Amino acid sequence: AGIKNTASERTFIAVKPDGVQRGLVGKIVSRFEERGYKLVAIKAVVPSRALAEEHYADLRARPFFRGLVEYMTNGKAPVVAMVWEGKDVVRQGRAMIGATNPLESSPGSIRGQYCVSVGRNIIHGSDSFESATKEIQLWFGKPGEVIDWEPANWVWTM
Ligand code: TYD
Repeated sequence: AGIKNTASERTFIAVKPDGVQRGLVGKIVSRFEERGYKLVAIKAVVPSRALAEEHYADLRARPFFRGLVEYMTNGKAPVVAMVWEGKDVVRQGRAMIGATNPLESSPGSIRGQYCVSVGRNIIHGSDSFESATKEIQLWFGKPGEVIDWEPANWVWTM
């Protein structure tokens, strides 16, 4: 009891509107699939202001907050929201995404490969187990939105 089972943990990943606009959804999904993670929820959504503000509640006092919420919610393109499951997926997801500021994201990371501006950094990933729990509930809170399914587990069981 009290030990986190990182073999079956879940994280919230979202392709932001600029990533959708640029046609990068498939490439991003592929990177998680090919790494060995399991897709358990996905939908395209234009988030309400309330949802975006709650999602980024920790950043409410930051100068870029208004612009960030406006960008996420303006509907020029949707957000593609996902839940991915697998071993260490919260930390691995962050590593795959790369640093927030593209100047600091390694070239092999998703941000390092596809973007140059912090305000248009194409993808979100939960930064901790606790954020993942909160964000999955926030974006996929309705019953049945996250699907439990059985992979052929020889790939992941180690
Ligand atoms: P943050 O939670 O710090 O980063 P991350 O997305 O890597 O978890 O910030 C959330 C988003 O806010 C970030 O992806 C892009 C935007 N942002 C800015 O526009 N300007 C900034 O200076 C920072 C730090 C973030």
